[in-house]
Amino acid sequence: GAAGPLAGRRAIVTSGPTHEPIDPVRYIANRSSGKQGHAIAAALARLGAEVTLISGPVTIPDPAGVRVIRVERAEEMRDAVAAALPVDVAVMVAAVADWRVASTAGNKIKKRPGEAPPPLQLAENPDILKTIGHHRSRPRLVIGFAAETENVAENGRAKLDRKGADYILANDVSPKTGVMGGDRNRVKLIGRDGAEDWPEMSKDEVAEKLAALIAVKLSA
Ligand code: C5P
Repeated sequence: GAAGPLAGRRAIVTSGPTHEPIDPVRYIANRSSGKQGHAIAAALARLGAEVTLISGPVTIPDPAGVRVIRVERAEEMRDAVAAALPVDVAVMVAAVADWRVASTAGNKIKKRPGEAPPPLQLAENPDILKTIGHHRSRPRLVIGFAAETENVAENGRAKLDRKGADYILANDVSPKTGVMGGDRNRVKLIGRDGAEDWPEMSKDEVAEKLAALIAVKLSA
């Protein structure tokens, strides 16, 4: 889109889970539908931004007006994000797996009667938000999400500092909230100088509100 308050601005959004292969047919992953990340990519595009959406495996359709790069593993996602720099704003919404399988088997691991289950050795994945928050081509605005089940504000604030982000949108994803996989969300916006509770709204509305905030911050 050419017109709009974000015309001429470039954005990266990560969305969805990552899949970390165990062997050619098995993987470990986080739960993520991609709904919130895709909605943010679409909302930024509607305000005129040139958006690159870097998405793990999801079943929802590509948003309109956005360049979509599909990846599977966290390391692929990190490489795709780095390749899309420089940008004005990065919004990291993907539920990246904290660990990958240390050595992926080239062939399907066979289940043999009477044999013990195979051990799974894990290795730490790169933290993509932290990498971008401390990058030499750091975007002017770096925004992360924090899915928490307890101490939402405290954990969000700690993440802001650790990851070098400007804002963290913290949401309570404990099972009672229905946020996971649902269409609605309740977030707390945590910035350097304070936090703000947003009322419960649809994920599309969260995306609209965040895109509007980004437009204000980038024009300041
Ligand atoms: O997993 P965690 O709670 O640390 O995630 C907080 C933020 O960091 C999210 O925005 C998520 O997209 C990002 N993240 C990331 N790479 C990771 C882990 C988290 O970009 N390996």
